Order: sequence, then C-alpha cells, then structure tokens
Amino acid sequence: MTRAPHALLLESIHECADGVLCEAGFTVERAFGALAGEQLDQALERATVVGIRSKTELTSAHFARHPHLIAVGCFCIGTNQVDLSAAEARGCAVFNSPFSNTRSVAEMTVAEAVCLFRRLFEKSTLLHGGLWDKSAANSHETRGRTLGIVGYGHIGSQVSVLAESLGMRVVFHDVVRRLPLGNAQSRPTLDALLREADCVTVHVPENASTAGLIGERQIAMMKRGAMLINNARGSIVDVDALARALRDGHLGGAAVDVFPDEPSASGDPFSSPLRACASAILTPHIGGSTEEAQELIAIEVAEKLARFWLHGSTQNAVNLPEVDLPVLRDGQLRILHVHRNVPGVLGTMHTLLARSRININAEYLQSNPRTSYVILDVEEFTDHTLLDGIAAMPETIRLRTTAGIAPTSTR
Ligand code: NAI
Repeated sequence: MTRAPHALLLESIHECADGVLCEAGFTVERAFGALAGEQLDQALERATVVGIRSKTELTSAHFARHPHLIAVGCFCIGTNQVDLSAAEARGCAVFNSPFSNTRSVAEMTVAEAVCLFRRLFEKSTLLHGGLWDKSAANSHETRGRTLGIVGYGHIGSQVSVLAESLGMRVVFHDVVRRLPLGNAQSRPTLDALLREADCVTVHVPENASTAGLIGERQIAMMKRGAMLINNARGSIVDVDALARALRDGHLGGAAVDVFPDEPSASGDPFSSPLRACASAILTPHIGGSTEEAQELIAIEVAEKLARFWLHGSTQNAVNLPEVDLPVLRDGQLRILHVHRNVPGVLGTMHTLLARSRININAEYLQSNPRTSYVILDVEEFTDHTLLDGIAAMPETIRLRTTAGIAPTSTR
C-alpha cells in the first residue's frame, strides 16, 4: 500500500518549510532537536520524507530499517551526516541547499572589510577596556581601496557587487574563466592579485588544491598593512603564518570565520594562535547564519522534496541521477523507477508495458555508473499487473507512481 505522504522535520527547521510541504499534500510532524537511537527509528517509521540539519545522522542501517523513506532533505549546506551511497542503493533521494546563504556571507565579508579599514574592532575593544582613543591614524575609507577576491563563484561575485557599491576597486582571480560583474577585473594569477590588493578575501571551496592556498609565501607577497579575510574554510589559510604576519605588522588586520579545528558545539572552548592578535576579528563560523538564510534554505529544500514527491524530479539531488521533469498532464500517470545500471532493463520494461497494452507518452532517463533513474509518462491505468512485473525485476531498486498506485509488493 502507498502511504499518505508524511514529512518529519527535525532540528527546528524554519517554519516556512511547512507551507510548501502541506501544499504538496504532506502532513508535517516536527521535533525541536536532533533525534537518535530508538527515538529516531520510531519517528522515521511514519515518515515518507525526513528533513534534518547537521546533527541528525542517517546511516545505512536507517535506510535498511525504513525502506518507505523516499527522500531526505538536508536543510543546510553539507550532507556528511547522511550515508549518501546507502541512500542511493535504496533509491532514496537526498537534497540540500548549497547556496541559500550566499548573500549572508557576502554582506558579512564587506562589513568586515569596512571594520578592518576603520579599525572598528580594535577601537571598540579599547573602549570596552575603558580607553578613549580618538586617533585617525591607520583608519581609512574603503572608497578607492582595492579588494582582491580569490574565487569568483556564488559568494565572491556578490562580494564584488557590494564592494563596488561602496566605491571599492575590485580585482579577482579564479581558476575558471568568470564573467566580471560591474567594473571588476580578472587577474591571471593569485600572485598578481596578492601583490595588488589592499584587502584579500578568499571564497574558494575546500579541496586538495585549495588546502594551504594562502600560506607564508602568499602572505609575504601581500602589501605591507594589507588585510586578509577568510570566510570560506579553515584549511585554506595557514593560521600560524597569519598570526605571525599580524604580530610583526606585515598585515594590518584580518577577519576569520572558519578555522582548521572548530569546536563541535556552542559553549565549547576555542583555541587558535589568532586569539592573541588584537587586529583579528574572529567569528564562530557564522558567515551564513542569518534568519534570512534559514528561511531561504527551508523554502528551497522543501520545494525540492515537494517536486520529487509530486513529479519525481531529482534536479539537484546529491546522490541520484538528476532528472528535471515537466508537470504531468491531466489523465496521465508517471512511473518512477530507480534501478541498477545494467543492460536490458529498459527493454524489459518496454516489453511489460506492451504486454499490458499501455502506451508510453514520454520517457526520461539519467544514469550514473551504478544507478539509473527512468521515468515513464503513460495514460492512467488501475491494473496492478504491470507494476508487479516491474517490481519483480531483479534490477529494481525502487518503484513508485505519482498517482499513488503501488505494486502489490513494494520495493
Ligand atoms: P562556489 O563553488 O560558488 O565558488 C567557488 C569559486 O572558487 C569557483 O568559481 C571556483 O572556480 C573557484 N576556485 C576553485 N578553486 C580555486 C583556486 N584554487 N583559486 C581560485 N579560484 C578557485 O562556492 P561559494 O558558494 O561561493 O562558496 C565559497 C566558499 O565559502 C566555500 O568554501 C564554502 O564552503 C564557503 N562558505 C562559508 C560559509 C560560512 O558560514 N562562513 C557559508 C557558505 C559558504
């Protein structure tokens, strides 16, 4: 039997998700925190889809115990908390929201550039300590200063637009050719950018090629008194080299939101050589943490879950072949079939449809080396024989239809 769709939302996901899911026909159940153990299993028992943030872990055992789970929504950026290949092996789609907090990071970056050039953080710290320092020495406007953006993707390009609106001159470097926005100019090498910028801000992904991208040598190349901002990932900037450059005055200031070793929970102790540097603004990985970003994430992920439930679309799924599907015409039914990617599956399905005298109006297919996802739009039918036949195919991982007709034994 196909269940009525039920969405389990954990970890206080923003309430905007509820409206989107209810409109798609889901009943919504919420829990304040993360769940684990027996409690998580009991809650998953009722769920067609589950929404989590970073603290709920979904392992292969969960996917094995809850085969009725058709999708997981990670209402955050990362998906490390989910066993993605186990989900794929069960035909369970996993979605996330990689770019909804872009604007929040971009705004914070530009705000930090202003604070660094005006020495606002140091002046404020002195005043908290009871010292009135009204000197203008080493305080500058951002207008006319050169901002060097390393990585001109979603965040870097927005920083570019915001910085130009303050009157900054923008240069950027990216390993991929990117269209410059506004008056920004591309630089062919990182070294050229480092030598030119009054403030360097890093917006590259964390991977083997960006680990230690800004180390001792690169910092030495920067102008004396320049600023460095890292709101990307902790592995990208060598914090020991940065602390030395701040202490000896080669760099004028820094803003750092991400660290090589970050505490796992709020309230945990934090240690870093940068703690001793008065000219460093340190923030606890909050670049993307705004209510606006949470709201955008909730809507984006809920819409992906709704589209998957209603139309079978796996666009932007992180673990299944991506298929973006049009809305189904009235009077049609969509067969959604995830199967092992081996030869002959489509042929068998076509034969079964022909035997049941069901005509295919549209067919979509995408595959990765392990898994294929095929979608067949057909005229509505009520006979279970065809679906039983497809479910019984040894390659079948998951079979469902948009109209809620199910084979007698579901897989
Ligand atoms: P993106 O993927 O849109 O852009 C990254 C850009 O960097 C791409 O254009 C890519 O071609 C370029 N790139 C890659 N390697 C490079 C290299 N070696 N040199 C120069 N350019 C290189 O990524 P997005 O969304 O702009 O994110 C940027 C960073 O911000 C990521 O590290 C992400 O994890 C981090 N982030 C941090 C947040 C926080 O809370 N502080 C929140 C969101 C993202």
